[in-house]
Amino acid sequence: MSAQILDGKKIAGEIRELVHQEVKHLLADGRRQPGLAVVQVGDDPASSVYVRNKHSACEKAGILSIKHEVPVEISQQALLDLVDALNEDPTVDGILVQLPLPAHIDSETVIERIHADKDVDGFHPYNMGRLTLKMPLLRPCTPKGVMTLLERTGIPLEGKEAVIVGASNIVGRPMTLELLTARCTTTTCHSKTADLEAHVRRAEVLVVGVGIPNFIPGEWVREGAVVVDVGINRLEDGTLTGDVDFEGACRQASWITPVPGGVGPMTIATLLQNTLKAAEVFHNA
Ligand code: GUN
Repeated sequence: MSAQILDGKKIAGEIRELVHQEVKHLLADGRRQPGLAVVQVGDDPASSVYVRNKHSACEKAGILSIKHEVPVEISQQALLDLVDALNEDPTVDGILVQLPLPAHIDSETVIERIHADKDVDGFHPYNMGRLTLKMPLLRPCTPKGVMTLLERTGIPLEGKEAVIVGASNIVGRPMTLELLTARCTTTTCHSKTADLEAHVRRAEVLVVGVGIPNFIPGEWVREGAVVVDVGINRLEDGTLTGDVDFEGACRQASWITPVPGGVGPMTIATLLQNTLKAAEVFHNA
């Protein structure tokens, strides 16, 4: 088998265009421009790239994006004060604090401080709880983006054996909940999983988000599986690669996401959708 490509770049472009059209309708009706505040603590180069891409995608979709770049040594209290100010700002519909945060700041405290109706990352315990209970409102961007990619490509999920490798709050856990809600049978693997290979070999839908280049050998992939690679790893020569051995997996899978051009663009497109939703549903933009 030679896998077909799950074209995240193309589908993300379609989603971004839909958001842009909707923003134009809002403005034509005399309503307020949706606004996203992006907070970056320090100047980690990878975070800077992500923040720049998010900012530029907002501008292209007609969403006002306000960047807050604060020094790495900012105190936790000063960061919480900034979040409080953004919570109160009526021009801000969404607040995104780029992760990871420096070690002296407790990420959970900061995430929980963001008003749940401005939590366009979907990481607040309220929004994660809603997703757990099959009552989602704002859903984490990467897993929701993966669901959109699978849906718009026409891949059926009901009853499928789904294996998620990685149990992070950003990817693995919400991805498991999304696939469970789509009526897959889900298995979540993590660093203490015994016999990871056996689980991966069972997967009809395989989602990997661990941040280790080529962590999953291609020969582990089940014949005909749908493979979603959430990893974006920069190698020493500057090239980007995923968590799955792409060449090997292509020989086994029916569908596979490339890196780059797979999940990454879907995450950003979903952030725009979430910001538009926050503006329309919660803040009467
Ligand atoms: N760092 C890596 N991915 C993400 C994300 O989706 N949101 C935020 N805020 N930080 C991240």
